[in-house]
Amino acid sequence: MKSQFTPRALKAFQRRLLGWFRTHRRDLPWRASRDPYRVWVAEIMLQQTRIAAVLPYYHRFLKNFHTVESLARAPQDKVLRLWSGLGYYSRARNLHRAAKGIVARHEGKFPPTLEAALALPGIGRYTAAAVLSIAYDVPLAVLDGNVARVLARLGAIRGDLRAPRRWRQLGDTADSLLARSAPGDWNQALMELGETVCTPQAPRCGACPVARWCRARALNLTREIPAPRSKRAAVKIRIAAAILRDPRGRTILVRDPGAHDDVLFSRMWQFPAVEVAREPKPELAKHLSEILNVDAASLDLEALPAARHGVTFRNITLLPFLARVQNLPKRPRTRVVALSNLSRLPVSSATHKIAAAALLP
Ligand code: ADE
Repeated sequence: MKSQFTPRALKAFQRRLLGWFRTHRRDLPWRASRDPYRVWVAEIMLQQTRIAAVLPYYHRFLKNFHTVESLARAPQDKVLRLWSGLGYYSRARNLHRAAKGIVARHEGKFPPTLEAALALPGIGRYTAAAVLSIAYDVPLAVLDGNVARVLARLGAIRGDLRAPRRWRQLGDTADSLLARSAPGDWNQALMELGETVCTPQAPRCGACPVARWCRARALNLTREIPAPRSKRAAVKIRIAAAILRDPRGRTILVRDPGAHDDVLFSRMWQFPAVEVAREPKPELAKHLSEILNVDAASLDLEALPAARHGVTFRNITLLPFLARVQNLPKRPRTRVVALSNLSRLPVSSATHKIAAAALLP
Protein backbone atom coordinates (compact mmCIF):
# COMPACT_ATOMS: atom_id res chain seq x y z
CA MET A 1 0.00 0.00 0.00
CA LYS A 2 1.33 3.42 -0.92
CA SER A 3 2.09 5.68 2.05
CA GLN A 4 -0.19 8.64 2.49
CA PHE A 5 2.87 10.70 3.50
CA THR A 6 5.64 12.24 1.45
CA PRO A 7 8.98 12.12 3.33
CA ARG A 8 8.58 15.76 4.26
CA ALA A 9 5.01 15.39 5.47
CA LEU A 10 6.06 12.36 7.51
CA LYS A 11 8.71 14.41 9.31
CA ALA A 12 6.18 17.12 10.12
CA PHE A 13 3.64 14.54 11.29
CA GLN A 14 6.19 12.83 13.55
CA ARG A 15 7.41 16.10 15.02
CA ARG A 16 3.88 17.20 15.77
CA LEU A 17 2.79 13.98 17.46
CA LEU A 18 5.99 13.62 19.48
CA GLY A 19 5.73 17.23 20.61
CA TRP A 20 2.15 16.67 21.69
CA PHE A 21 3.09 13.52 23.61
CA ARG A 22 5.93 15.23 25.42
CA THR A 23 3.62 17.89 26.80
CA HIS A 24 0.45 15.81 27.26
CA ARG A 25 1.77 12.44 28.41
CA ARG A 26 -0.05 11.15 31.45
CA ASP A 27 2.02 10.56 34.51
CA LEU A 28 1.68 6.78 34.61
CA PRO A 29 3.75 4.75 37.08
CA TRP A 30 5.54 2.65 34.44
CA ARG A 31 6.76 5.87 32.86
CA ALA A 32 8.73 6.89 35.96
CA SER A 33 11.74 4.92 34.74
CA ARG A 34 12.77 2.92 31.72
CA ASP A 35 13.48 -0.17 33.76
CA PRO A 36 12.59 -3.00 31.35
CA TYR A 37 11.18 -5.13 34.18
CA ARG A 38 8.71 -2.40 35.17
CA VAL A 39 7.77 -1.70 31.57
CA TRP A 40 7.27 -5.39 30.89
CA VAL A 41 5.01 -5.99 33.92
CA ALA A 42 2.91 -2.97 32.86
CA GLU A 43 2.57 -4.12 29.27
CA ILE A 44 1.42 -7.58 30.37
CA MET A 45 -1.12 -6.17 32.84
CA LEU A 46 -2.44 -3.70 30.25
CA GLN A 47 -3.35 -6.44 27.78
CA GLN A 48 -7.16 -6.57 27.56
CA THR A 49 -7.35 -4.45 30.71
CA ARG A 50 -8.07 -0.76 31.28
CA ILE A 51 -5.40 1.48 32.80
CA ALA A 52 -7.58 2.41 35.78
CA ALA A 53 -8.10 -1.26 36.64
CA VAL A 54 -4.40 -2.01 36.30
CA LEU A 55 -3.04 0.77 38.55
CA PRO A 56 -3.72 -0.73 42.01
CA TYR A 57 -2.53 -4.17 40.88
CA TYR A 58 0.59 -2.72 39.38
CA HIS A 59 1.55 -0.91 42.57
CA ARG A 60 0.90 -3.93 44.75
CA PHE A 61 2.73 -6.30 42.42
CA LEU A 62 5.87 -4.18 42.31
CA LYS A 63 5.81 -3.59 46.04
CA ASN A 64 5.92 -7.35 46.49
CA PHE A 65 8.31 -8.07 43.64
CA HIS A 66 10.83 -5.23 43.31
CA THR A 67 12.98 -7.00 40.79
CA VAL A 68 12.83 -9.77 38.25
CA GLU A 69 14.88 -11.89 40.69
CA SER A 70 12.32 -11.54 43.47
CA LEU A 71 9.53 -12.46 41.06
CA ALA A 72 11.47 -15.49 39.84
CA ARG A 73 12.01 -16.69 43.43
CA ALA A 74 8.36 -16.29 44.50
CA PRO A 75 6.00 -19.24 44.90
CA GLN A 76 3.45 -19.43 42.07
CA ASP A 77 0.52 -19.12 44.47
CA LYS A 78 1.78 -15.75 45.67
CA VAL A 79 2.07 -14.47 42.09
CA LEU A 80 -1.46 -15.65 41.32
CA ARG A 81 -2.80 -14.17 44.54
CA LEU A 82 -1.47 -10.75 43.58
CA TRP A 83 -3.08 -11.16 40.16
CA SER A 84 -6.40 -12.28 41.66
CA GLY A 85 -9.25 -10.25 40.12
CA LEU A 86 -7.31 -8.97 37.13
CA GLY A 87 -8.31 -11.92 34.95
CA TYR A 88 -6.55 -13.82 32.17
CA TYR A 89 -4.38 -15.64 34.67
CA SER A 90 -2.18 -17.32 32.09
CA ARG A 91 -0.57 -13.89 31.88
CA ALA A 92 0.60 -14.24 35.49
CA ARG A 93 1.81 -17.81 35.01
CA ASN A 94 3.76 -16.86 31.89
CA LEU A 95 5.20 -13.74 33.53
CA HIS A 96 6.46 -15.89 36.37
CA ARG A 97 7.95 -18.50 34.05
CA ALA A 98 9.56 -15.81 31.90
CA ALA A 99 11.08 -14.19 35.00
CA LYS A 100 12.73 -17.50 35.85
CA GLY A 101 14.03 -17.74 32.28
CA ILE A 102 15.43 -14.20 32.41
CA VAL A 103 17.28 -14.97 35.64
CA ALA A 104 18.52 -18.36 34.44
CA ARG A 105 19.54 -17.45 30.91
CA HIS A 106 19.85 -13.66 30.63
CA GLU A 107 21.58 -12.71 33.89
CA GLY A 108 18.43 -11.07 35.16
CA LYS A 109 18.22 -8.58 32.30
CA PHE A 110 15.28 -8.49 29.89
CA PRO A 111 16.86 -9.61 26.57
CA PRO A 112 17.35 -6.67 24.20
CA THR A 113 16.77 -8.52 20.93
CA LEU A 114 13.45 -9.34 19.32
CA GLU A 115 14.33 -12.97 18.80
CA ALA A 116 15.32 -13.62 22.42
CA ALA A 117 12.32 -11.68 23.76
CA LEU A 118 9.89 -13.68 21.59
CA ALA A 119 11.35 -16.91 22.96
CA LEU A 120 10.07 -16.05 26.46
CA PRO A 121 6.66 -17.38 27.52
CA GLY A 122 3.79 -14.91 27.14
CA ILE A 123 5.76 -12.48 24.96
CA GLY A 124 4.35 -11.98 21.50
CA ARG A 125 5.13 -9.42 18.87
CA TYR A 126 3.18 -6.63 20.61
CA THR A 127 4.80 -7.04 24.03
CA ALA A 128 8.29 -7.50 22.60
CA ALA A 129 7.98 -4.36 20.49
CA ALA A 130 6.56 -2.34 23.39
CA VAL A 131 9.19 -3.35 25.94
CA LEU A 132 12.17 -3.15 23.59
CA SER A 133 11.17 0.22 22.17
CA ILE A 134 10.24 1.82 25.49
CA ALA A 135 13.10 0.42 27.59
CA TYR A 136 15.90 0.22 25.02
CA ASP A 137 14.76 2.41 22.10
CA VAL A 138 14.89 -0.51 19.69
CA PRO A 139 13.14 0.67 16.49
CA LEU A 140 10.10 -1.65 16.53
CA ALA A 141 6.60 -0.34 15.93
CA VAL A 142 3.72 -1.58 18.11
CA LEU A 143 0.29 -2.41 16.83
CA ASP A 144 -2.53 -2.82 19.33
CA GLY A 145 -6.20 -1.92 19.20
CA ASN A 146 -5.59 1.75 19.99
CA VAL A 147 -2.84 2.19 17.45
CA ALA A 148 -4.85 0.33 14.80
CA ARG A 149 -7.80 2.68 15.29
CA VAL A 150 -5.59 5.76 14.97
CA LEU A 151 -3.93 4.44 11.81
CA ALA A 152 -7.23 3.34 10.29
CA ARG A 153 -8.71 6.79 10.79
CA LEU A 154 -5.61 8.54 9.48
CA GLY A 155 -5.73 6.49 6.29
CA ALA A 156 -9.55 6.12 6.12
CA ILE A 157 -9.23 2.34 6.15
CA ARG A 158 -12.59 0.61 6.14
CA GLY A 159 -13.52 -2.93 7.09
CA ASP A 160 -12.73 -5.14 10.07
CA LEU A 161 -9.28 -4.11 11.29
CA ARG A 162 -8.64 -7.54 12.80
CA ALA A 163 -9.07 -9.34 9.49
CA PRO A 164 -5.61 -10.90 8.98
CA ARG A 165 -4.71 -9.16 5.74
CA ARG A 166 -5.82 -5.76 6.97
CA TRP A 167 -4.05 -6.23 10.29
CA ARG A 168 -0.82 -7.04 8.42
CA GLN A 169 -1.26 -3.90 6.31
CA LEU A 170 -1.74 -1.86 9.46
CA GLY A 171 1.45 -3.40 10.82
CA ASP A 172 3.30 -2.30 7.68
CA THR A 173 1.85 1.19 8.04
CA ALA A 174 2.94 1.32 11.69
CA ASP A 175 6.48 0.31 10.64
CA SER A 176 6.63 2.93 7.92
CA LEU A 177 5.50 5.74 10.24
CA LEU A 178 7.78 4.87 13.18
CA ALA A 179 9.92 7.78 14.32
CA ARG A 180 13.23 5.95 14.47
CA SER A 181 14.90 8.66 16.54
CA ALA A 182 12.52 7.97 19.46
CA PRO A 183 10.71 4.64 19.04
CA GLY A 184 9.58 4.36 22.67
CA ASP A 185 8.03 7.81 22.79
CA TRP A 186 6.58 7.32 19.33
CA ASN A 187 4.80 4.09 20.19
CA GLN A 188 3.48 5.51 23.43
CA ALA A 189 2.37 8.69 21.64
CA LEU A 190 0.20 6.67 19.26
CA MET A 191 -1.25 4.62 22.11
CA GLU A 192 -1.85 7.75 24.17
CA LEU A 193 -3.58 9.47 21.25
CA GLY A 194 -5.86 6.44 20.82
CA GLU A 195 -6.67 6.27 24.52
CA THR A 196 -7.28 9.94 25.21
CA VAL A 197 -8.22 11.70 21.94
CA CYS A 198 -8.89 9.30 19.06
CA THR A 199 -11.28 7.26 21.20
CA PRO A 200 -13.66 4.63 19.79
CA GLN A 201 -16.76 6.74 20.44
CA ALA A 202 -16.87 10.51 20.01
CA PRO A 203 -13.23 11.18 19.17
CA ARG A 204 -12.08 14.67 20.18
CA CYS A 205 -10.81 15.76 16.79
CA GLY A 206 -10.68 19.37 17.96
CA ALA A 207 -7.94 18.39 20.41
CA CYS A 208 -6.05 16.17 17.98
CA PRO A 209 -2.54 17.34 17.14
CA VAL A 210 -2.53 15.48 13.81
CA ALA A 211 -6.10 16.13 12.65
CA ARG A 212 -4.84 17.91 9.54
CA TRP A 213 -3.43 14.61 8.25
CA CYS A 214 -6.56 12.57 9.04
CA ARG A 215 -8.47 11.26 6.05
CA ALA A 216 -11.40 9.97 8.09
CA ARG A 217 -11.91 13.46 9.46
CA ALA A 218 -11.64 15.05 6.02
CA LEU A 219 -14.20 12.57 4.67
CA ASN A 220 -16.44 12.83 7.73
CA LEU A 221 -15.98 9.12 8.41
CA THR A 222 -14.68 9.09 11.97
CA ARG A 223 -17.89 7.44 13.15
CA GLU A 224 -17.73 4.72 10.50
CA ILE A 225 -14.08 3.89 11.17
CA PRO A 226 -13.17 1.51 12.61
CA ALA A 227 -15.94 -0.76 11.32
CA PRO A 228 -17.63 -2.77 14.08
CA ARG A 229 -15.90 -6.07 14.70
CA SER A 230 -17.70 -9.19 13.61
CA LYS A 231 -18.72 -10.70 16.92
CA ARG A 232 -19.03 -14.33 17.81
CA ALA A 233 -22.46 -15.25 19.11
CA ALA A 234 -22.46 -15.39 22.91
CA VAL A 235 -22.51 -18.89 24.37
CA LYS A 236 -24.78 -19.28 27.38
CA ILE A 237 -23.44 -21.35 30.24
CA ARG A 238 -24.82 -22.12 33.69
CA ILE A 239 -22.48 -23.15 36.48
CA ALA A 240 -23.76 -24.42 39.83
CA ALA A 241 -21.33 -24.02 42.71
CA ALA A 242 -21.50 -25.33 46.28
CA ILE A 243 -20.53 -23.29 49.28
CA LEU A 244 -20.17 -25.71 52.15
CA ARG A 245 -20.15 -23.65 55.34
CA ASP A 246 -19.36 -24.83 58.85
CA PRO A 247 -20.53 -23.06 62.03
CA ARG A 248 -17.28 -21.06 62.15
CA GLY A 249 -17.95 -19.55 58.72
CA ARG A 250 -15.31 -21.61 57.00
CA THR A 251 -15.66 -23.23 53.61
CA ILE A 252 -13.84 -25.70 51.39
CA LEU A 253 -12.14 -24.93 48.09
CA VAL A 254 -10.83 -27.35 45.52
CA ARG A 255 -8.63 -27.28 42.46
CA ASP A 256 -10.79 -28.86 39.84
CA PRO A 257 -9.61 -29.20 36.26
CA GLY A 258 -13.20 -29.52 35.00
CA ALA A 259 -14.43 -28.34 31.63
CA HIS A 260 -15.46 -24.89 32.90
CA ASP A 261 -12.25 -24.41 34.83
CA ASP A 262 -9.97 -22.62 32.42
CA VAL A 263 -12.34 -19.86 31.44
CA LEU A 264 -13.90 -19.22 34.76
CA PHE A 265 -11.64 -20.25 37.61
CA SER A 266 -8.35 -20.28 35.75
CA ARG A 267 -7.08 -23.39 37.50
CA MET A 268 -7.05 -21.55 40.81
CA TRP A 269 -8.77 -22.39 44.11
CA GLN A 270 -12.53 -22.56 43.58
CA PHE A 271 -15.79 -23.81 45.03
CA PRO A 272 -16.80 -27.28 43.88
CA ALA A 273 -18.77 -26.49 40.73
CA VAL A 274 -20.26 -28.09 37.68
CA GLU A 275 -21.72 -26.91 34.43
CA VAL A 276 -25.40 -27.79 34.49
CA ALA A 277 -27.48 -29.07 31.63
CA ARG A 278 -30.94 -29.12 33.19
CA GLU A 279 -31.53 -29.26 36.92
CA PRO A 280 -28.84 -27.43 38.91
CA LYS A 281 -29.49 -28.94 42.32
CA PRO A 282 -29.36 -32.69 41.63
CA GLU A 283 -26.52 -32.24 39.16
CA LEU A 284 -24.50 -30.33 41.73
CA ALA A 285 -25.29 -32.92 44.42
CA LYS A 286 -24.05 -35.67 42.14
CA HIS A 287 -20.86 -33.72 41.42
CA LEU A 288 -20.21 -33.23 45.14
CA SER A 289 -20.57 -36.91 45.85
CA GLU A 290 -18.09 -37.62 43.06
CA ILE A 291 -15.36 -35.14 43.84
CA LEU A 292 -15.65 -34.89 47.64
CA ASN A 293 -17.03 -38.34 48.31
CA VAL A 294 -19.81 -36.93 50.52
CA ASP A 295 -23.27 -38.32 50.88
CA ALA A 296 -25.17 -35.88 48.68
CA ALA A 297 -28.54 -36.81 50.20
CA SER A 298 -27.33 -35.52 53.57
CA LEU A 299 -26.63 -32.06 52.17
CA ASP A 300 -29.38 -29.49 52.19
CA LEU A 301 -28.54 -27.30 49.21
CA GLU A 302 -30.13 -23.87 49.50
CA ALA A 303 -30.24 -21.80 46.30
CA LEU A 304 -28.73 -18.31 46.69
CA PRO A 305 -29.17 -15.36 44.30
CA ALA A 306 -27.65 -16.02 40.91
CA ALA A 307 -24.86 -13.83 39.59
CA ARG A 308 -23.94 -12.97 36.04
CA HIS A 309 -20.43 -13.19 34.75
CA GLY A 310 -19.30 -12.30 31.25
CA VAL A 311 -16.00 -13.67 29.95
CA THR A 312 -15.21 -12.68 26.35
CA PHE A 313 -17.97 -14.28 24.27
CA ARG A 314 -19.36 -16.37 27.10
CA ASN A 315 -22.41 -15.36 28.97
CA ILE A 316 -22.23 -17.17 32.26
CA THR A 317 -24.81 -17.49 35.01
CA LEU A 318 -23.38 -18.54 38.35
CA LEU A 319 -25.80 -20.46 40.53
CA PRO A 320 -24.49 -20.59 44.10
CA PHE A 321 -25.90 -23.11 46.57
CA LEU A 322 -25.27 -22.97 50.29
CA ALA A 323 -24.90 -26.17 52.32
CA ARG A 324 -24.60 -25.75 56.07
CA VAL A 325 -22.51 -28.55 57.49
CA GLN A 326 -21.33 -29.42 60.97
CA ASN A 327 -17.91 -30.49 59.73
CA LEU A 328 -16.20 -29.81 56.43
CA PRO A 329 -14.98 -32.95 54.70
CA LYS A 330 -11.22 -33.46 54.94
CA ARG A 331 -9.91 -34.46 51.54
CA PRO A 332 -6.59 -34.30 49.74
CA ARG A 333 -6.09 -31.34 47.40
CA THR A 334 -8.67 -29.20 49.16
CA ARG A 335 -8.26 -26.12 51.34
CA VAL A 336 -10.32 -24.91 54.25
CA VAL A 337 -10.58 -21.13 54.42
CA ALA A 338 -12.77 -18.48 56.07
CA LEU A 339 -15.50 -17.46 53.64
CA SER A 340 -14.81 -13.82 54.46
CA ASN A 341 -11.11 -14.18 53.72
CA LEU A 342 -10.80 -16.02 50.42
CA SER A 343 -8.10 -13.65 49.26
CA ARG A 344 -5.59 -15.62 51.29
CA LEU A 345 -5.59 -18.00 48.33
CA PRO A 346 -5.37 -17.33 44.60
CA VAL A 347 -8.98 -17.24 43.42
CA SER A 348 -10.66 -15.66 40.40
CA SER A 349 -13.35 -12.99 40.45
CA ALA A 350 -16.00 -15.60 39.65
CA THR A 351 -15.13 -17.29 42.95
CA HIS A 352 -15.43 -13.96 44.78
CA LYS A 353 -18.86 -13.45 43.23
CA ILE A 354 -20.03 -16.84 44.43
CA ALA A 355 -18.72 -16.14 47.94
CA ALA A 356 -20.47 -12.76 47.97
CA ALA A 357 -23.84 -14.50 47.52
CA ALA A 358 -23.24 -16.46 50.73
CA LEU A 359 -22.16 -13.37 52.66
CA LEU A 360 -25.31 -11.37 51.92
CA PRO A 361 -27.23 -10.52 55.08
N1 ADE B 1 -1.36 0.71 26.73
C1 ADE B 1 -0.52 -0.33 26.67
N2 ADE B 1 0.73 0.07 26.88
C2 ADE B 1 0.70 1.39 27.08
C3 ADE B 1 1.66 2.37 27.36
N3 ADE B 1 2.94 2.05 27.47
N4 ADE B 1 1.25 3.62 27.48
C4 ADE B 1 -0.04 3.91 27.38
N5 ADE B 1 -0.98 3.05 27.15
C5 ADE B 1 -0.64 1.80 26.99
